[in-house]
Amino acid sequence: MTPDPTPEFVLARPRTVPLDPPPAYSRLREDAPISRVTIWDGRHSAWLVTRWEDARAVLGHPAFSSDPSQPGFPDVQPDQPPQPPGFFTNVDAPVHTTMRRTLTREFMVKKIDALRPAIIGITGQLLDEMARSQGPVDLVERFALPLPSLVICELLGVPYEDHEYFQERSKVFVDITATGEQFTQAWGELNAYLLDLLAAKRKAPGDDVLSRLVEQVDAGTVSEGDATDLAVFLLFAGHETTANMIALGTVALLQNPGQIPRLLAGPAETAQAVEELLRYLSIVHMGLRRRALQDVTIGGITISAGDGVIVPIHLANRDPEVFTDPDRLDLGRANARQHVAFGYGIHQCLGQPLARAELQIALPELFRRLPGLRLDAPLEDLAFKQETAVYGVSELPVTW
Ligand code: HEM
Repeated sequence: MTPDPTPEFVLARPRTVPLDPPPAYSRLREDAPISRVTIWDGRHSAWLVTRWEDARAVLGHPAFSSDPSQPGFPDVQPDQPPQPPGFFTNVDAPVHTTMRRTLTREFMVKKIDALRPAIIGITGQLLDEMARSQGPVDLVERFALPLPSLVICELLGVPYEDHEYFQERSKVFVDITATGEQFTQAWGELNAYLLDLLAAKRKAPGDDVLSRLVEQVDAGTVSEGDATDLAVFLLFAGHETTANMIALGTVALLQNPGQIPRLLAGPAETAQAVEELLRYLSIVHMGLRRRALQDVTIGGITISAGDGVIVPIHLANRDPEVFTDPDRLDLGRANARQHVAFGYGIHQCLGQPLARAELQIALPELFRRLPGLRLDAPLEDLAFKQETAVYGVSELPVTW
């Protein structure tokens, strides 16, 4: 089938098959892997990059900027919220390099491994509480959301009692229907909240990321404003993403029950299964967006300085040239870890060791403790989040 020469890239085009990318884009990958698409306003266009190899070439190239304030940057929605300067994924090098350096140590695999006993404890406690109640329950409310929220609170040193406050505001950052005003308000409120917490840590430091950020502020390696921005970003990114992965991962596994034994077979099999779930679900699904700072040739196409580029990583992760039979969930897939679900290049997810640890603990433990787990609603009736930058389900009724 020949695609429309300038197809409209409708962000949040509904996923007609809930766990697959919209089929129109897969056809585009075959016929015109890098093509001009019209964005939401019907006037501006950007390059849509659909292949895995080209996606990595763009995301790993220093000539592409993440700064959305520049003309030509492909906006995702009509009322594009003015992005606060500290929204970390939007900061370019060299400022980005300095900011990221203040946190690198906190997310090293060794450091996160030390957190595993705490994650196991939190998982066990949540599952104990859930198992005591009679199903059906909402798995998002009882397990998928509290687990990463409790863990990020523990890591950062944020009181979990405040979870409703930060969860509500974090939701605005991924809601593509949110207005600029709502975005700015949520960012401002979380910023004020974390500024107060950082001040409290200065008086009574703990063994946590926020206390160590305060030390860096006092040593002059990071400004108080940057430290607060980073703290907001970590608090938001640290729970919203993993929560959706736990819930959607559960859905995918329940749709493929024959593969659950592989998830439970041992640490190596579990780790591989988690990589495949990350690839298959690719929850960050609105496309990573960039703008060319100079002319660059990618996949034989010249992208001119000033052009916008959209890289939907859920398409790259279904590229048949890299992943055989890509639309099939295969928990034993040997090269699953080649996925770009955490992005690629300088903005590649900083929290990925944490996300991996949480998923490697939460998903097998859920199915071990509740072997009879099943959906309490037909798949089509689940509330899939079509209008958020991070895909998932807002509720997941289950029983066992
Ligand atoms: C399964 C869960 C997660 C997924 C799928 C995910 C995905 C991503 C993606 C795709 C990016 C790149 C954005 C871009 O290039 O524009 C990113 C960046 C980032 N993520 Fe995650 N993430 C997850 C969990 C986490 C967690 C638990 C944290 C911990 C706090 C975290 C912190 C960050 C940070 C700080 C960045 C910005 C890095 C930078 O710009 O240098 N993420 N994530």
